[in-house]
Amino acid sequence: MRINCARIEYGAFSCVSAMFFALLLCLRTACGDLSYTVEEEKKDRYVIGNIAKDLGLTPQMLSTRKARIDTEESSKRYVDVDLRGGDLVVAKTIDREKLCGSRLNCILNYELVLENPLEMHRISLKIEDVNDNAPKFLNDRITFEIRESAIKGQRFRLDEAHDSDIGQNGVNDYSLEKNDHFILSVQGSTEKGKYAELVLDEELDREQQKEIDLILTAVDGGNPQRSGTATIHITVLDANDNVPVFSQSVYKVSLAENAPLGAEVVTVSATDADEGANGAVSYECSRIADNAAQLFTIDKVTGRIKVSGDIDYEEEKYYEIKVQAKDGSGLASTASVIIDVTDVNDNAPKIILKSLTNPIPENAVVGTEVAIINVQDKDSGDNRQIRCSIQQHTPFQLKPSIKNYFSVVTTSSLDREKETDYNITITATDGGSPPLSSFKTIHIFISDVNDNSPVFEEQQYSAYLTENNKPGTSICCVTARDPDWRQNGTVLYSLVSSEVNGVPVSSFLSINADTGVIHAVRSFDYEQFRNFKVQVVARDNGSPPLSSNATVSVFITDENDNSPQILYPAPEGKSLMTEMVPKAALSGSLVSKVIAVDADSGQNAWLSYHIVKSTDPGLFSIGLHSGEIRAQRDISESDSMKQNLVISVKDNGQPPLSTSCSVYLLISDNLAEVPELKDMTYEESSSKLTSYLIIALVSVSTFFLTFIILILAVRFCRRRKPRLLFDGAVAIPSAYLPPNYAEVEGAGTLRSSYNYDAYLTTGSHTSDFKFIRSYTDNTLPAGGSLKLSQNDPFGPSEIMLNDNGDRDEVSRALFIPYYS
Ligand SMILES: *[C@@H]1O[C@H](CO)[C@@H](O)[C@H](O)[C@H]1NC(C)=O
Ligand SMILES: *[C@@H]1O[C@H](CO)[C@@H](O)[C@H](O)[C@H]1NC(C)=O
Ligand SMILES: *[C@@H]1O[C@H](CO)[C@@H](O)[C@H](O)[C@H]1NC(C)=O
Repeated sequence: MRINCARIEYGAFSCVSAMFFALLLCLRTACGDLSYTVEEEKKDRYVIGNIAKDLGLTPQMLSTRKARIDTEESSKRYVDVDLRGGDLVVAKTIDREKLCGSRLNCILNYELVLENPLEMHRISLKIEDVNDNAPKFLNDRITFEIRESAIKGQRFRLDEAHDSDIGQNGVNDYSLEKNDHFILSVQGSTEKGKYAELVLDEELDREQQKEIDLILTAVDGGNPQRSGTATIHITVLDANDNVPVFSQSVYKVSLAENAPLGAEVVTVSATDADEGANGAVSYECSRIADNAAQLFTIDKVTGRIKVSGDIDYEEEKYYEIKVQAKDGSGLASTASVIIDVTDVNDNAPKIILKSLTNPIPENAVVGTEVAIINVQDKDSGDNRQIRCSIQQHTPFQLKPSIKNYFSVVTTSSLDREKETDYNITITATDGGSPPLSSFKTIHIFISDVNDNSPVFEEQQYSAYLTENNKPGTSICCVTARDPDWRQNGTVLYSLVSSEVNGVPVSSFLSINADTGVIHAVRSFDYEQFRNFKVQVVARDNGSPPLSSNATVSVFITDENDNSPQILYPAPEGKSLMTEMVPKAALSGSLVSKVIAVDADSGQNAWLSYHIVKSTDPGLFSIGLHSGEIRAQRDISESDSMKQNLVISVKDNGQPPLSTSCSVYLLISDNLAEVPELKDMTYEESSSKLTSYLIIALVSVSTFFLTFIILILAVRFCRRRKPRLLFDGAVAIPSAYLPPNYAEVEGAGTLRSSYNYDAYLTTGSHTSDFKFIRSYTDNTLPAGGSLKLSQNDPFGPSEIMLNDNGDRDEVSRALFIPYYS
């Protein structure tokens, strides 16, 4: 028999004590143990086993003996005895996990008590596990923060899943959702519990994936299998694993020179994939030339490069700056900024005078190089394409030479006398837009060359000089102009040495070399010398000198310096002439004629006759200009036989000069009455009148004969040597030959020489001396202006008629000039 101990002990102590107690009982009564196994979670009235059968009793006996299951007071009773069939049945659903937790053996102990007799049987009910719990994670969400720099193979332990079931029904395995970076490694044993580790299989990149969510599944070994999941949330932490990256490795920009301060050149930008400080980029120039450092600044934060100085293309055309971008922890990269400075037309061309010939002589040939200029422009390209020009209207032009050199050459001949200097303005313009220009003025002087000869204001000068001038009188002034410069234009005057009537002209005239004033060297006598010509030369002082000449015609003008000369009748005291007047002379008949001449000319020789005194006023009158004495009335017997007239001959000069003479008239028809002449004579009359008359007649005849011969001879000579007359007249009066007989250009009076001749014919031979003296003292030959003329109305042949007593003819010859 088995003693069933119905007592169920929970604690070890109580169990031990209960067993000890049961043992005591057993020692006293017969007692047996019953053992059953049941799965948990069986429903009520589930039959676990048949107690009646196991105790060898019938179910009625159980019922009669009041079989019952005793529990300790507080503990629950999960089983009961079905007295009808003697079965042990589940009284209340058993949850093993509640009763025993994770204990492997879960046994409930009960006591079956039978009465009459009292018997106790111990019942031990072993409860078996059923997979009724799934694995479970403590947290649904497992979070990790993994640095992206984590290396491959790194492990991360995951939370264990928990399964209330035990043994096979506990957590058996883990699995992980498929992913790129992690694999799962399961560790531990079923007994001790299994756990999983995440293993980094592929390195992380925060920049690619910042967060990863994975599903972790835990499964148990039960059947059916149960599982539980949790989410693994991995945050990838940044590591400074990225250098900043510039958007371009080379920034190429062009920048116009003279860009204003602050102008933006370019903005560089670099990005860093990292975050936070690791991704904060700051910019700086890592390598910059000293000159560029003053011109450009970079903004640390924005990367904007700005102009901070004067950009001058002419100084530097190209800058290269290395820019560095650095993140917070010092990772850096660089890029180049290449700045091409572009030209702006900010420089005007420069004109540089390389050489200058100044002054240039006015006879420089066309094309003479005067100056060499060089033009420069600091700009480049079109901005340094220079066009050069010279202003119009100057005889200069620009001739391109090599490269930027130009020569200034003359384009036409120069004349200092027209233009003494030139201001040449050279303009240089570049090809920029807008173009810039500059100017240079060259002041070029033209130097003189003696290329102009002096020019007289007139080619012919006429000078009038009144005779009897004082030596040294200035008679005229010649002027010549020479436009040349200084000595090349300084005019000196001189007379061309020549001869006038064989006498050097210098003995007549002199010229002031500087002023051109011509002076008479000596006194002139119109009656001898009326005009002449001299050549005046004006010569400049150049080397060689240039000269020109002019003719000065000197005209000597008449002055009333000769009183009328009475030819007939002879002056008183020299000879005595008596005219016979027929007694029967009627009124108006010509009784005599006074013949007078004046050596002067013109008005000065215009003679008028007056009767100053007469024996019988009213009987005779005299023609005012003819000198003819005519009877005014018929002569009567009563008239006195001897008539005496005093006649004055006056010229028309200013003041007039006059001469007087006496005319003796004898009214008689008969020469027998001549003896009475004695009475007629004045006291001073010569007693030898008759003989004188005879002598006079003879000598007149002889003289005229000789005269004709001489005239012929002279004519002959003059034809061969025309100047002989001048020579003789001027040089030696003793060599005087009877001079010319008529004038051509004069005022028309009889030549003085003739006057004297006539005087001789009627007067005393004693006058010879006077005659000669008159030539030597105060006369000069009348120069080249006098000549013997064949058709001169006053030719000697006519005058000779006088000798034949044809008075009418004589008077015509003498007086026509006055009226012509
Ligand atoms: C040239 O310029 C100078 C100085 O400016 C001036 O004295 C001179 O008269 C000018 N000459 C001409 C021909 O214009
Ligand atoms: C005068 O002309 C000559 C050349 O004929 C020249 O050499 C000289 O310099 C000139 N004199 C002056 C003062 O200009
Ligand atoms: C005066 O000038 C003329 C022409 O101008 C020339 O024929 C003549 O020879 C010159 N005479 C003298 C003396 O220079």
